[in-house]
Amino acid sequence: MFETDRLQLRAIREADFEKVLALWNDPRVQKMMSRDFVVPSGGDEQFRAGLLSALLFVIIETKDSHEFVGVTFLRLFDLQKKNRDAMLGLAFLPEFWGKGYATEVVRFIVDYAFEQLALHRVSLAVYGNNTAAIRVYNKVGFVQEVVQRKANWIDGKWQDVIWMAVLDEDWEASRKDDLKIVS
Ligand SMILES: CC(C)(COP(=O)(O)OP(=O)(O)OC[C@H]1O[C@@H](n2cnc3c(N)ncnc32)[C@H](O)[C@@H]1OP(=O)(O)O)[C@@H](O)C(=O)NCCC(=O)NCCS
Repeated sequence: MFETDRLQLRAIREADFEKVLALWNDPRVQKMMSRDFVVPSGGDEQFRAGLLSALLFVIIETKDSHEFVGVTFLRLFDLQKKNRDAMLGLAFLPEFWGKGYATEVVRFIVDYAFEQLALHRVSLAVYGNNTAAIRVYNKVGFVQEVVQRKANWIDGKWQDVIWMAVLDEDWEASRKDDLKIVS
């Protein structure tokens, strides 16, 4: 189990699948996570297998009251293995948005990805209207690399799909800068 200031990140248990499914079935969440049709899912075997096949998939809870906040994950697809390039995902229940939790979690996961998992890149795709997520990723050091223009249809409009990444060397440099500020 991992801990940040206010949260704990732990392995998924049998009883969590329903909560993760409910999170996914919230249209405010699913439309920001998927390029597919946004429709309710019954959570079949493929859904479960998808969660379990991630390099890292954790349930996020509040430290004090153990409330289910959401999930975060790193996926290392076969074609990305040689280059140690994992895809980051995260989603929180809307009642927990705007408390700084995503910033706390993404900082932890990026540190963990480079320090413990020996990754070279952490990549992600975010939709152009996802202002909160883009703000979080910028704060943590992700850099925009590619924009697929008007590539995803959300709420009656085309949105850009923005690819962002942070490299191990960017992360090293930012840590050295932090040390300089402290010393
Ligand atoms: C994206 C998501 C994880 C963000 O979580 P969160 O805990 O609310 O994020 P934080 O509170 O750490 O930070 C959000 C930042 O965006 C800013 N923000 C939020 N909405 C904003 C808006 N409409 N315009 C400008 N800034 C906005 C906040 O002020 C905050 O920045 P600050 O710390 O500098 O003030 C959450 O909204 C979510 O689960 N969304 C649905 C799933 C999703 O989008 N996943 C990401 C897919 S790429």
